[in-house]
Amino acid sequence: MSKINLSVDIAGIKMQNPVTTASGTFGFGLDYLDYFDVNQLGAVVTKTITINRRMGNPPPRIIETPSGLLNSIGLANPGIDEFIQSTLLDLEHIKAPIIVSIAGDTEEEYVELAERLDKVDKIAGIELNVSCPNVRMGGIQFGVCPEQVNRLTKASAAATQKPLIVKLTPNVTDIVEVACAAVEGGARSLSLINTLLGMSIDINKRKPVLANNVGGLAGPAIRPVAVRMVWQVAQAVDVPIIGVGGICDYRDALEFIMAGAASVGVGTWNFVNPTACVDIIEGLRCFCLEQGVKDINELVGCSWK
Ligand code: FUM
Repeated sequence: MSKINLSVDIAGIKMQNPVTTASGTFGFGLDYLDYFDVNQLGAVVTKTITINRRMGNPPPRIIETPSGLLNSIGLANPGIDEFIQSTLLDLEHIKAPIIVSIAGDTEEEYVELAERLDKVDKIAGIELNVSCPNVRMGGIQFGVCPEQVNRLTKASAAATQKPLIVKLTPNVTDIVEVACAAVEGGARSLSLINTLLGMSIDINKRKPVLANNVGGLAGPAIRPVAVRMVWQVAQAVDVPIIGVGGICDYRDALEFIMAGAASVGVGTWNFVNPTACVDIIEGLRCFCLEQGVKDINELVGCSWK
């Protein structure tokens, strides 16, 4: 069988294939060890870490909709101290690059997190989550404002040598403007999209289903929106893009790649099919073989180049 190159380079992070996990859907990579060898992944993107431990929002905080999940988890996580002192030790045996997602209530918190993670060799890159719709402070409030994104990215980039990947929200009028602001601020890669703000109402109780009223919609429903945004942003920036949003199989992954993503993040579908990521890697390999594509990078942005 002829050798197909699936490896990609995301801002210096060498991935053996383009498939990563979308933050928040894969824990810290440890929950999936019973299903497959996570070292087969291009990279593992962890659940977002904050300065302090967070219990997250009260339940109900997750609900199924016809073609997606509506969640308002509220960034539940153990906090940076426990992450560094304990979780990281468990991650030692993961050889795939680890990208740690971070979020803060304030700019100073993002900077502190970036500074602390900068000292950890095990970490290949940092994802700046400026797009979580489920927290009272920070998150999406930063992500909807190009000037804030620019400032936050600049401040965080100054605090670390590690590649900074900014995760963008789709809940904006012009995602290209925000993407350019992030790149100008020092983002070496962009990840898009995070969830679309949504709501569901229990008609018997006559109340919102989620305790937090609103949440973020993920899953196949948002894929066309995400592909469109990747396509727009890829034509406007010169940093590699990680495409995220409703990817279920290799065909979906290829849509993102052809729209301009160098890498893809699988999210909600990990809950439906825990081996989705490895199935997608295999599907990409077979597609390339069948189509005579020797290097997957040839397909990046081919729908408009
Ligand atoms: O609520 C949450 O933990 C979701 C985070 C995110 O969408 O970034």
